Amino acid sequence: MRSQKVLLVCLGNICRSPTAHAVLKQKALQQQLNIEIDSAGTSASHRGDRPDSRSIEAGIARGYNFSGLYSRPVFEQDFADFDLILAMDNENIAELKRRCPPDHQHKIKLFLSFHPEYPSVAEVPDPYYSGSKGFELVLDLIEQSCDKLIMAPEVQPK
Ligand code: 4NP
Repeated sequence: MRSQKVLLVCLGNICRSPTAHAVLKQKALQQQLNIEIDSAGTSASHRGDRPDSRSIEAGIARGYNFSGLYSRPVFEQDFADFDLILAMDNENIAELKRRCPPDHQHKIKLFLSFHPEYPSVAEVPDPYYSGSKGFELVLDLIEQSCDKLIMAPEVQPK
């Protein structure tokens, strides 16, 4: 059996996808689900940066660990390497689909497609220019989606 590889994608890889990375890692550990997780940005503008301090602060307050996370862009090789590529919003879906070879297009999905209220709730809003409420909403949506994602057949070892 091989553990599934999940790539979490947003624009800068400093707010939403590192938060999803930290939350999914912890929930998978708690459920003893063996998955490989990474995160990346469709933009390279924050390459090498640590997650946004507002994301770290909000996440740590809920018990998540952001150590070892640094922004990196999505690479061509990611489309072959990962089993599931989950984007935080439709803009990032469109950009990933534009870059992804035809053989791997089926791997790209909205992260919130696992959310219990999907499709009424479909995108994790970009919190970069928002206040602290934006970062709390990001965490709420990500926690709710991760609770379903870890039970989904797509992430069970195959
Ligand atoms: P993220 O948030 O995509 O959730 O990491 C953003 C981070 C940086 C920028 C926009 C969104 N930016 O414009 O620099």
